[in-house]
Amino acid sequence: MSDAVQFLRAWITDPMHVASITPSSSALAALITSEITPETTPVIELGPGTGVFTRALLKRGVPPGRLLLVERGHDFAEMLRGRFPGVEVLNMDATDLGRVELFGGEPVKAVISGLPFLSMPVRQVIGVLAGCFAHLSPDGAYYQFTYGARCPVPRLILERLGLKAIRIGRTFSNFPPAAVYRIKRRPVRKLYAVGPQPRA
Ligand SMILES: C[S@@+](CC[C@H](N)C(=O)[O-])C[C@H]1O[C@@H](n2cnc3c(N)ncnc32)[C@H](O)[C@@H]1O
Repeated sequence: MSDAVQFLRAWITDPMHVASITPSSSALAALITSEITPETTPVIELGPGTGVFTRALLKRGVPPGRLLLVERGHDFAEMLRGRFPGVEVLNMDATDLGRVELFGGEPVKAVISGLPFLSMPVRQVIGVLAGCFAHLSPDGAYYQFTYGARCPVPRLILERLGLKAIRIGRTFSNFPPAAVYRIKRRPVRKLYAVGPQPRA
């Protein structure tokens, strides 16, 4: 079965979670993985579907053993296991990631997300972000694509979680056109204690 047909079938069965009738393009895959190098590991990919972003990550030099796929759909997870030997696949909901140990507790450098944030309840979006940032290193980054005109995580939620989002690019070579955001922790502001002023 071709990827397009498998994707369409998954969408018909579970439109809320698959949220697209076709896999992402190689242009979007190149954009969302553009800041990943063999040093930006370990990496977690959320919602890989048929593995368009997975293929791009491996092409950018991520060793298979340093990549973890988290996919809710059972059929997708099975297909990914057969397609990417050496890459671990967890068939689970990304919302529960904060409760599991990954990579033996080693901090993760990047998360590449194919999750449909725009069709997920805000409570779940918060759960995914909080869980992922519990695993991310202090300078680690979470990459999220969206078909929307702005970041799919509302500003208030970002502020509440101590995060900031920057758009790193947009591509029209995707159906529909999509943008990618890099979400990181806000830098901690240094507070200077104000003590008694020295006398002149
Ligand atoms: C829009 S598709 C993107 C698939 C692929 N990344 C691509 O770009 O072609 C969303 C994917 O996320 C998966 N998914 C949705 N909600 C999820 C969740 N809570 N946890 C893990 N995977 C989820 C779906 O099964 C599907 O594979």
